[in-house]
Amino acid sequence: MLSAEPFIIALDGPAASGKGTLARKLAEHYNLELLDTGALYRAVGWQVLQSRGDPENEEDALNATNWLNDIDLSNPALRRESTGAAASKVAAIPAVRQALRDFQREFAANPPEGKNGTILDGRDIGTVICPGAPYKIFITADVETRAKRRFLEEFGEDGSDQEYEEILAELQARDERDMTRSNSPLKKADDALLIDTTNSSIEAVFEAAVTFISSKE
Ligand code: CDP
Repeated sequence: MLSAEPFIIALDGPAASGKGTLARKLAEHYNLELLDTGALYRAVGWQVLQSRGDPENEEDALNATNWLNDIDLSNPALRRESTGAAASKVAAIPAVRQALRDFQREFAANPPEGKNGTILDGRDIGTVICPGAPYKIFITADVETRAKRRFLEEFGEDGSDQEYEEILAELQARDERDMTRSNSPLKKADDALLIDTTNSSIEAVFEAAVTFISSKE
C-alpha cells in the first residue's frame, strides 16, 4: 500500500453479525476514528417514529434527516429491534441514502488530528460509500445465532421464547429488506474478506481481520 493512501477500513454485514464489536476493537488497535453508520439510519428511523410518521414514506423520512444533529446517537432506544426495523425502512429510500452519503464520505476521508485513519461499519461501505477503501471486511453469521445475540442484548437472561421468536422474525424481515432493496443492497464487495462468526470467538474474528490487513500492508 502507498503510504499516501488513506487508511480506511470498510466493515459490512447483516444485523447482529458482530460488526460493532469488531469495529471497536479494530479502531482501538489501529487508532482509527469510528463511525457506526447504522446509528445514523437508526436515528432517522427513531425520529420518524417519534413524530408519528411512516418510515416507508419518503417525505416523513427525509424530514427526519434534518434532525440528525439533534439526536443523541447513544440513546439506548436507538438499539431496540423496533427501531432497527424503522431504520431498515428509511434506509431503503434512495433520497435518505443520498442525504447521508456525503457526510459518511467526508468522515471517511478526514480522520481527526491524532488518528491514523477511519473505520466505518454498515451495509454499503465497501460497495458504495468507500469503494476504494484499501481494507474491506464482510462479516456474517447464521440468522439464529444473530437472533440469539440480539435477544440477549435486549432482554438479558429473562426473555421469553416468544420474545426470541419475535426478534428472529424481525431480523429475517430486516435481512430480506436490506439484501433485496434496489439501492445499495447489503452485499459483499468482491475484494472483501469474508468472516463467518457463527462459531468463532471475538478474539478469533479480530485475529482474522488483523492478519488480512497485515497481508495487504
Ligand atoms: O446493529 P445492527 O447490525 O442490527 O444494525 P445497524 O448497523 O444499526 O443498521 C440498522 C439498519 O440501518 C440496517 O438494517 C440497514 O437497513 C440500515 N443501514 C444501511 O442501510 N446502511 C448502512 N450503511 C448502515 C445501516
